[in-house]
Amino acid sequence: MATIQMKVSPEDLSHVPQGQERIPEPGILVIFGGSGDLTKRKLLPALFHLRQTGLLPPQFAIVGVARRPIGDEFAADMRQGIVEFGGIDPADPELNEFASHISYYALNFSDPQGYSGLKAELDRIAEEKGIGPDRLFYLATAPEFFAGIVENLGAQGMAQPEKGRVAVIIEKPFGHDLDSARILNQQVNAVFRENQVFRIDHYLGKETVQNLLVFRFANRIFEPVWNRNYVDHVQITVAEKIGVEGRGPFYEKAGALRDVVQNHMMELLSLVALEPPSSFDAGSVRREKLKVWQAIPSIPILNAVRGQYGPGIVDGQHVVGYRDEERVDPESPTETYAALHLEIENWRWAGVPFFLRAGKRMKRHATEIAIQFKQPPLLIFNRMKTGDACQEILPNLLTIRIQPNEGIALRFGAKVPSTPHMSVCPVTMDFDYASAFGKSSANGYERLLLDAMLGDQTLFAHRDGVETTWALLTPILQAWASKTPEVFPNYFAGTWGPECSDRLLERYGLTWRNNIGVPS
Ligand code: BG6
Repeated sequence: MATIQMKVSPEDLSHVPQGQERIPEPGILVIFGGSGDLTKRKLLPALFHLRQTGLLPPQFAIVGVARRPIGDEFAADMRQGIVEFGGIDPADPELNEFASHISYYALNFSDPQGYSGLKAELDRIAEEKGIGPDRLFYLATAPEFFAGIVENLGAQGMAQPEKGRVAVIIEKPFGHDLDSARILNQQVNAVFRENQVFRIDHYLGKETVQNLLVFRFANRIFEPVWNRNYVDHVQITVAEKIGVEGRGPFYEKAGALRDVVQNHMMELLSLVALEPPSSFDAGSVRREKLKVWQAIPSIPILNAVRGQYGPGIVDGQHVVGYRDEERVDPESPTETYAALHLEIENWRWAGVPFFLRAGKRMKRHATEIAIQFKQPPLLIFNRMKTGDACQEILPNLLTIRIQPNEGIALRFGAKVPSTPHMSVCPVTMDFDYASAFGKSSANGYERLLLDAMLGDQTLFAHRDGVETTWALLTPILQAWASKTPEVFPNYFAGTWGPECSDRLLERYGLTWRNNIGVPS
């Protein structure tokens, strides 16, 4: 398809308010599972960046908590993580100052006695650094420790202190099915009130994901066509080139549906489909998202497809199949690809199919939402006999590139100039974040950590939302668990996933988009 590209740039950035962000009160961030990868790769680089941009209070402390007695090694290790994963110059003088706010406390998570020691240590640090009573507990451990940690914090009176604001951030996975999510919610809410609980989904911290609401509700022209009268169907893709990256044991228990569909993809879907919230606050936004998930009827098992990658070629390199990955069962039935067709039964969306797919070891790394509009009611140019290669009338298509190459493109038909007849050619208007704003979007954790410190729950999952999405997907998980897939592996690494997922779209005469993630 020939395309003509039009770059969109901001008309004027001079009026964009700078430095308007609120700064949290001085407090202590306690990271359980502090010695793990997430802390080093994502959390500490994000915190350092917040510090650099002046968004952390002058008095703050970060305390890593884990089992191993690593002491001062922790701060050094985190410093190295900031350099490596945050792209920071090791000679940056701010690094030393920042490292002086980091300490470590060794604790066996299931030992109740240890928590009184932790409490005393936090009080000591607060006293020494002149920090008030605010505490933020970040659970970045394996999920089996969540309930025990919460219970012990409660037993020591650390969850509901007399003074200060205390909150808990809980990493995914939040449960592994409906029952376990309900139990975990009960355990957490027995200690923390819901307004103290921040269930994190890092997709909600991504600029492009937050922009979905801005795109829809800060502009007048899209909303009138954002419905069943104009939209033909929606495709949402989370494609990753990477495999399981040494996380075999975790992934064996998760699989694609649990790992990214129940959380990241359901969030994307809700932001595409929700009704306009009455304001941008936690209550309004989360209520509208919940209504979307509640409007999805149960998904017939025939509308769900699973896949697992075999060996293949990615970026010119041979890669092993999933069953040959480290610490993975050689006969594993775990899906590394999942695709769904679902409907949203409300006045806006009735009859519009939504297709979702997520996979590891796919051909390209790209997360994209594609909204295809209906054809005009009468194609007056379609029957023109022109002999021109460009005579092609494609429906309007809005593609939102969540990552990489973050941007938004709109395809429409244009008359090819200097031709004697009405020759139509698809062209694209393309807004590209990097060229418009000149900066790449930050790792989602920065926004989310700051919001949690400020007590803003808008970009965090509510217990009702978590349970509703699990309720939708648990029957599929159960059906898959009850029947071993006969044909695994069923796609080669480095491809667009199993052929059998095409059948979800074939009945509508459609195909999956395969040039996703590429700016026009
Ligand atoms: C995580 C999943 O939640 O999201 C990973 O556990 C996945 O398996 C990752 O790779 C994808 O996140 P991102 O930000 O790289 O798209």
